[in-house]
Amino acid sequence: MFYETKDDHGLPRDPFKACIVPRPIAWVSTVSAEGVRNLAPFSFFNGVAHPPPMVILSFNGKQPQGNDKDTLANIEQTGEFVVNVVSEALTDPMNVSCAPVAPEVDEFTLAGLETEPSRLIAPPRVKASPIAMECTLHQVVELPVAGPGTRNALIIGNVVGIHIDESVLTGGLVDVAKLRPLARLGYMDYTVVRDSFTLLRPKE
Ligand SMILES: Cc1cc2nc3c(=O)[nH]c(=O)nc-3n(C[C@H](O)[C@H](O)[C@H](O)COP(=O)(O)O)c2cc1C
Repeated sequence: MFYETKDDHGLPRDPFKACIVPRPIAWVSTVSAEGVRNLAPFSFFNGVAHPPPMVILSFNGKQPQGNDKDTLANIEQTGEFVVNVVSEALTDPMNVSCAPVAPEVDEFTLAGLETEPSRLIAPPRVKASPIAMECTLHQVVELPVAGPGTRNALIIGNVVGIHIDESVLTGGLVDVAKLRPLARLGYMDYTVVRDSFTLLRPKE
């Protein structure tokens, strides 16, 4: 089949996100200008450059109340965020934290999560997350939207510090079998990366 994305795809569900899989999940902690902590997952996320290490996050749509997503608002206000990696054991609290709750609600408390202070920025990290990247805002890029009253925006961030728990290292290398990162598929589906293989690049 083929469809132009401006037209109807004719399938029971929109296949776009199912065509880009698996997507890593950034579990993003921020603090508002008023000091309220916030935590939410984002799978339009990736590392995009290195060195220096840079990440992107993409925010689609607004909250049911009509305001920007709290994470986007907080990053624009403070210029700081933490990308916490979601290991398999953190699946349930990650899901709890994506509820579209009001800005004054602290999702760390909602999901029953403990925090650890960051070293270089104000937002705390998720204590149980085995890898956490402290980030500062590099640039906000506005993206096209399908209609009025909404907003799509891309955040480009500088990774200024990385915490790695010793428990996910083997011989000094991040061991994906220990990390067991959760990743997003299409529709309401997820996967967990449990194994890997090594492939050397061809020599010239
Ligand atoms: C696994 C997962 C991935 C998500 N990825 C995105 C995303 O990439 N962009 C987005 O705008 N919303 C995404 N969402 C929805 C947000 O997490 C949700 O809108 C959340 O309420 C935003 O919280 P906030 O207002 O505290 O920032 C995702 C939700 C889940 C469960």
